[in-house]
Amino acid sequence: MLPLVDSKSFPKLSALAFLVLTGFGTSTDSNAGESPHKTNVTNPFEYQPFTLSKDVSEVSVNYRTRWSRLTGFELSGLHWNQFVVIYTSSGLKTYKRNFYEHLKQIEADDEDEEYDPEYKTYPVGSVMLKENYLTNEGRPGKPTTLTLMIKRKPGFYPQGGDWEYIETDINGKIIIKGNGGDTAVKKRCASCHINIADRDYIFSTFLTEPALHAHK
Ligand code: HEC
Repeated sequence: MLPLVDSKSFPKLSALAFLVLTGFGTSTDSNAGESPHKTNVTNPFEYQPFTLSKDVSEVSVNYRTRWSRLTGFELSGLHWNQFVVIYTSSGLKTYKRNFYEHLKQIEADDEDEEYDPEYKTYPVGSVMLKENYLTNEGRPGKPTTLTLMIKRKPGFYPQGGDWEYIETDINGKIIIKGNGGDTAVKKRCASCHINIADRDYIFSTFLTEPALHAHK
């Protein structure tokens, strides 16, 4: 088992830990600010700035310690150029498989070959949770929103892979909630994720291996 931040095996993470913590603490930064939950932790993944709304905590209570973390802090161009960290409840196996299938396809493309990836769909009840942080001079800054995708039972909204989308602010206030059949959700979330329907609507192509073992 690997500790969460092991500077020998994973120097990038501890460098990020430093950047994130200094980012949070600098009051002169334009989008940094005092978080009500600020504590003196030295590990950014122990710092929990987000309050979970009831709908979110029902499916995600203590996700930081119970779930698999799929990524470190990644800069997400399509998610409004924010830094993101992605966790999953029970989607790890499917995510890993689809990630490697996707890599094989990219490799084949590079060599002008054909590869037809076999993507799997996520088990009912899987939750994908993404923490979002503003970008502050190229590094993760103030935490901003939580976005979730929850795999509901077949029939919930088959045209959208039966995924429910939720977005809340840092205090747990719901910004948006529903499926792609809802106009606002379609506009803000589902219309983009539908582009990746073949990978069961899950976009991310980051996988931070040491993080996968963090809580195992
Ligand atoms: C413009 C396209 C776009 C829109 C709009 C969008 N997303 Fe995403 N989403 C992405 C991409 C791309 C990723 C993968 C991370 C990355 O590479 O940026 C992602 C990742 C996610 C993830 C982690 C699982 C995954 O697919 O990798 C969740 C959860 C998520 N988005 C929820 C939402 C919610 C909720 C909304 C609406 C509030 C939303 N997204 C709107 C493009 C989008």
